Amino acid sequence: MSFLSNAGDGKITVPHILQRKSRAAGSTTNEKKIACLTAYDYPTARLVDEAGVDVILVGDSLGMVVLGYDSTLPVTLEEMLHHTRAVRRGTRRALVVSDMPYGSYHTDIAESLRNALRFIKDAGAEAVKVEGGERRLELIARLTEAEIPVMGHVGLTPQSVNALGGYHVQGKTADSAEQLLRDARAVEAAGAFALVLEAMPRELAAQITREVRIPTIGIGAGPDCDGQILVLSDMLGLTFGQTPKFSRQYANLGETISGAVREYCDDVRKAAFPSDAESYHAAQGAKNRKTISITG
Ligand code: KIV
Repeated sequence: MSFLSNAGDGKITVPHILQRKSRAAGSTTNEKKIACLTAYDYPTARLVDEAGVDVILVGDSLGMVVLGYDSTLPVTLEEMLHHTRAVRRGTRRALVVSDMPYGSYHTDIAESLRNALRFIKDAGAEAVKVEGGERRLELIARLTEAEIPVMGHVGLTPQSVNALGGYHVQGKTADSAEQLLRDARAVEAAGAFALVLEAMPRELAAQITREVRIPTIGIGAGPDCDGQILVLSDMLGLTFGQTPKFSRQYANLGETISGAVREYCDDVRKAAFPSDAESYHAAQGAKNRKTISITG
């Protein structure tokens, strides 16, 4: 058995992501930026992976865009593990990171560690993401000590929607910007390998990106981060209602699906589907027998 089977095969690993920081810092083009997307199941993971994304996040946004919850708060550990397994089966090259859902790392550290281990051992994730800055210092350090790579997440942290009073841009005042800088430094000091910056002024995200040695991954944080992430359903036009200002829609799959389903219903109703070519036929000479054999 070889433990070097990934060497040179293009597989993205945590050290690769860390290396992209130093290259991005000295780079004048954007070609080294880290491209991340969420995915939630086997087909989306396969498509996203084969199209060349660097990091696939099994985001707890799945609660809202796939499971129909009003927020990410109800998402359970079992739901996240179930979707992570499907994404794992569809991914060969990208680094698979899973969100720890609300409640799975908010009680004691030992239980949080047990929950995080399940993502790695049972579901095949290669890293976990936790929301929060300074207050996650001890947790991130313990997970890192247990060989679990951690992606941090500061700024607008959707699991704090009740505490924040809604989904608002963070870090707009001098005090809150200072707090976000402290949060980012704490996440780095605790041993995280990357940091998501969500919904904050681009100037603040640029400052954090300059100050920390780990790569920053922006979502609504401007173009100066080391990488970017979007919610796949938003960028494919598969969500209902308004998408955030920072999200760019690259396709309208919602319209494509509705159109295809309408066409199918019309065809069924006017007996235009299935055609003879889409039907099986009885074997020659068997047509008069009571039992007929089906051929391909
Ligand atoms: O859950 C999610 O999809 C996320 C990204 C938006 C960063 O946390």
